[in-house]
Amino acid sequence: MKRRILTSLCLPLLLVLAAGCGRDPSTETDAQLGLNAQQAAGRRIYNLRCAGCHKAYSSRGLQGPGLKHLFRKKYMPSGLPANDRFVERTIVNGRGMMPAAGYTLSDEELRDLLAYLHTL
Ligand code: HEC
Repeated sequence: MKRRILTSLCLPLLLVLAAGCGRDPSTETDAQLGLNAQQAAGRRIYNLRCAGCHKAYSSRGLQGPGLKHLFRKKYMPSGLPANDRFVERTIVNGRGMMPAAGYTLSDEELRDLLAYLHTL
């Protein structure tokens, strides 16, 4: 009897966990990801300007390092602090093989992009 209760509790939980593992956030809609309008705008910029070289939802590298949990870590791969100031500087000035976005992004686009990066 006890085992039956345990199984009935654990099975749904396992299914939910398994489904969670298989999910690929990059294929989900803005709504599924719970993005607000600014973050969704930033995601569009990211997909155009960054996704070719950086995976958003994985720490595996592409041309550049994966950006999963970028702002949840204390430091970026280079050792610079992972905060708005240094991430913005990286985007604007470029870094190593990463091209500088310079003034090809407006202040608003930069703010939107940073807002999205905070959701990773
Ligand atoms: C052409 C490929 C390319 C594009 C496009 C690109 N990056 Fe990069 N990025 C790189 C490479 C390569 C590095 C590693 C640079 C190094 O440390 O030498 C990097 C590093 C970074 C880092 C880590 C910096 C550090 O201090 O460790 C961040 C954050 C970053 N990129 C964000 C972005 C964002 C946001 C965009 C879109 C605006 C973007 N990148 C566009 C190639 C790219």
